[in-house]
Amino acid sequence: MPRALVTGAAGFIGSQLTERLLIDGYEVVGVDCMSDYYSPSAKKENIAGLTSHPGFRFIESDLNDMDIAGTVANIDVIFHLAGQPGVRGSWANGFGRYVADNVSATQRLLEAASHREVRRFIYSSSSSVYGDSSARPTDEESLPRPVSPYGVTKLAAEHLVHAYGQDSDLETISLRYFTVYGPRQRPDMAAHRLIESCLVGREFQLYGDGTQRRDFTFVSDVVDANIRAAQVSGPEDAVINISGGSSVSVNDLIASIERIVGASANVVRMPTHAGDVRDTCADRSRSEAVLDWVPRTTLDDGLQRQVDWHLGHHGHDVTVGQRRHSDRPRPSQAGSGRP
Ligand code: NAD
Ligand code: UGA
Repeated sequence: MPRALVTGAAGFIGSQLTERLLIDGYEVVGVDCMSDYYSPSAKKENIAGLTSHPGFRFIESDLNDMDIAGTVANIDVIFHLAGQPGVRGSWANGFGRYVADNVSATQRLLEAASHREVRRFIYSSSSSVYGDSSARPTDEESLPRPVSPYGVTKLAAEHLVHAYGQDSDLETISLRYFTVYGPRQRPDMAAHRLIESCLVGREFQLYGDGTQRRDFTFVSDVVDANIRAAQVSGPEDAVINISGGSSVSVNDLIASIERIVGASANVVRMPTHAGDVRDTCADRSRSEAVLDWVPRTTLDDGLQRQVDWHLGHHGHDVTVGQRRHSDRPRPSQAGSGRP
């Protein structure tokens, strides 16, 4: 039975990867420090169904101070998802945490994993490393020029992964995810906030005019890509885009969510946020060639599943919500400022 270490195992993506690995028969050690970037109780819920699984062992610990060498003993593959995510909080005083959790923690983990039994190291990188690339669709050979401190730390960690791979027998793969959505999505992200806005009327602050585009990627497709990355033979040092194939504007995302929920979002227009890239759109040739992976979930299907999760999770009753879509003026008429 293959043995995996999943860092960030209680997070949005890590908890769903852990579930899938256990279903596939892996033994999994999960590490997570339950950081307070968002509610640790949400993270506890993410893994509540896993803790009694005989193939799962959970270690609540910080990669920056735990005994990693002991933890990686007998591990075949490491899925490294732990980190401080989110583009917009990485400026000013926030930066220290990004350096610690994205750069220093990755270096500690690589130091412990290289020159040991670990065969493969799969790193959760980010489309943020590209910055405002002029090439669209953007392929992995495009010069990475991050425009946020977050992107800089994700790129620095990618380079560490490469360096440690060169210095050891560790096979390394960095997967550059493009804006992931779906059940359990982090509460700082657009789709999560928009669905909550439609369901309970909470304000959705729209940064910029909403014409910026994202290549939204459904979480189970990201999980599949990780599984493929662990199993394929061949790549010993690869960087691969993982994207959903639907590069749509935030205005289109708002319209899709309003249609699926059947209620309007309470949109309040704000200035563009520092560090936000203008558009993302991935070239997926490499993921198909190297991993034999393509995304399976359309944006509408994925959003429907995320809406179902919000409904089931929070027990919202949209029919008693005050914001039935058909009953309300369009947001532009309502003075949301959205074009
Ligand atoms: P998340 O915050 O839900 O999960 C990350 C987890 O890592 C959290 O549970 C946190 O407690 C844990 N963690 C943070 N620092 C740690 C440390 N020092 N030691 C141990 N645990 C630590 O975020 P997510 O959205 O699931 O993202 C997972 C990874 O994927 C991150 O590395 C992120 O940068 C990357 N990524 C995410 C997206 C996206 O759209 N969600 C896109 C590109 C890349
Ligand atoms: C997401 C993740 O948060 C990052 O961790 C990840 O690395 C990145 O994807 C990536 O693909 O590399 P982002 O694209 O900013 O970052 O994802 P969202 O937070 O969902 O934002 C999407 C768009 O909606 C952005 O243009 C953002 O400005 C906008 N937005 C977001 C708002 O207008 N209001 C909000 O409240 C949140």
